[in-house]
Amino acid sequence: MFNSKISGLGYYVPENVVTNDDLSKIMDTNDAWIQERTGIKERRHVVQGDGDTTTTMGVKAAKIAIERSGIDKDDVDFIIFATLSPDYYFPGPGVLVQRDLGIKTVGALDVRNQCSGFVYALSVADQYVKTGMYKNVLVIGSELHSHGLDMTTRGRGVSVIFGDGAGAAIVCREESSDKGILSTHLHSEGEHAEELALIAPGMGKRWVTDILKDNDPEDASYLPHMNGQFVFKNAVVRFSEVIIEGLKANNLEAKDIDMLVPHQANLRISQFIQKKFGLGDDQVFNNIMNYGNTTAASIPIALTEAWEQGKIKSGDLVVLAAFGSGFTWGSVIIRW
Ligand code: COA
Repeated sequence: MFNSKISGLGYYVPENVVTNDDLSKIMDTNDAWIQERTGIKERRHVVQGDGDTTTTMGVKAAKIAIERSGIDKDDVDFIIFATLSPDYYFPGPGVLVQRDLGIKTVGALDVRNQCSGFVYALSVADQYVKTGMYKNVLVIGSELHSHGLDMTTRGRGVSVIFGDGAGAAIVCREESSDKGILSTHLHSEGEHAEELALIAPGMGKRWVTDILKDNDPEDASYLPHMNGQFVFKNAVVRFSEVIIEGLKANNLEAKDIDMLVPHQANLRISQFIQKKFGLGDDQVFNNIMNYGNTTAASIPIALTEAWEQGKIKSGDLVVLAAFGSGFTWGSVIIRW
């Protein structure tokens, strides 16, 4: 077995900033409500027609990660792409990245798992590198939420929370034995699948020809649905459990954490976890204020910013944790 490590990170967010006040002009909401409930001040939205898609944002983030890792794009020997907002229903964006980066015909895998998507993708990359099958795996999390949100008062419980953006990492073989990804921990509980879901387009219930025939503008199954309070209650429990699970597996304790980078679902969730684990402000990284919840992109964007700001140093114990639709949740324990 080999060791694996993150050797390069990058992120990209669209230029267009959408503030809470901007949203209050198009739906019945306000800055105070959004900040108090979620901590979000603004998010980025792709401007329709400006060329940004889930794939192109992922490619922009990937180029930065590749450059920072010191490899050439042709050294990438596998691509993993996590998203819930692919450019096409199929094929997934992994192959579009292979095309757009112009790299040789390496394998490209698409990962679902929504807010836990990047943690799941990282876990897959970690296993491939540890077994020696691949040396440099490109892992991308990218989301274009804004085109799929209900930007009216009907959708305000969901649409104020989500933002667009992408993050990427290169997971490569690590020669030293005491650094790198120590372990990953994944879970699911499908019993609550519909509590945070976008039901259509899906082949589960109806013929697509019937859906097209109905052409019903009131059909909310095309819009994301979230039982916010139920999700919140489950999130705080599962975040805590999976962090403890990861620490225990490595004979570590909460006091050993140098930096916790939680999936940016809600600042209140991060603050709850911070308090529960007795961590200081400098031990938890939050940027939901600036980007909202970018789902599979949120951890790689946050991890990149934390690293760029010098908040992650060699030898640090870095913990990633995510929870989201599925429900799915997971953690990654890294010795940086
Ligand atoms: N602006 C103003 N009012 C809003 C609003 C908005 N954007 N969205 C909802 N409301 C209203 C509701 O209609 C409700 O009004 P009522 O009391 O008259 O019925 C009231 O605010 C409270 O709504 P509720 O949904 O109970 O609020 P909440 O305190 O649960 O906060 C969330 C909502 C979504 C912020 C919160 O539940 C949450 O963050 N949940 C977890 C989300 C999450 O983590 N999702 C991603 C998982 S990865």
